[in-house]
Amino acid sequence: MKKIITFGTFDVFHVGHINILERAKALGDYLIVGVSSDQLNFSKKQRYPIYCQDDRLKIISSLKFVDEVFVEESLDLKLEYIKKFNADILVMGDDWAGRFDWVKDECSVIYLPRTPSISTTQIIEIVRSK
Ligand code: CTP
Repeated sequence: MKKIITFGTFDVFHVGHINILERAKALGDYLIVGVSSDQLNFSKKQRYPIYCQDDRLKIISSLKFVDEVFVEESLDLKLEYIKKFNADILVMGDDWAGRFDWVKDECSVIYLPRTPSISTTQIIEIVRSK
């Protein structure tokens, strides 16, 4: 069985999130998703997510192509998570291209193209400006 692992905040869930998770699952048999904790998101983006981590976990775990979810507490633990879940492939959006090549001894790394013209940040800005 080929296991895929991917990571993200998945705040204000949108079709770009669906598209990457669907394509990630299509690369193997079992999809594991690390959902960034509220605290990790704050340290990455200097703001807390709109949806709290429990709600984001609930949304992601309810998708038909997601098999397992967990809270990602730190960006530096990628390798530990990959080993813990025995992942064969790490999938990331190409906004992260090259950034996780350092785990290539442990598993394959595939960067998938982002869905154009949509992001959580953009949705928040549009709603704020209305
Ligand atoms: N993603 C994607 N296409 C988009 C938006 C996101 O493929 N249009 C992917 C990212 O590359 C990542 C995953 O979805 O692998 C989770 O991304 P996340 O950062 O949570 O979503 P964004 O919409 O990019 O959020 P933000 O604007 O806050 O960066």
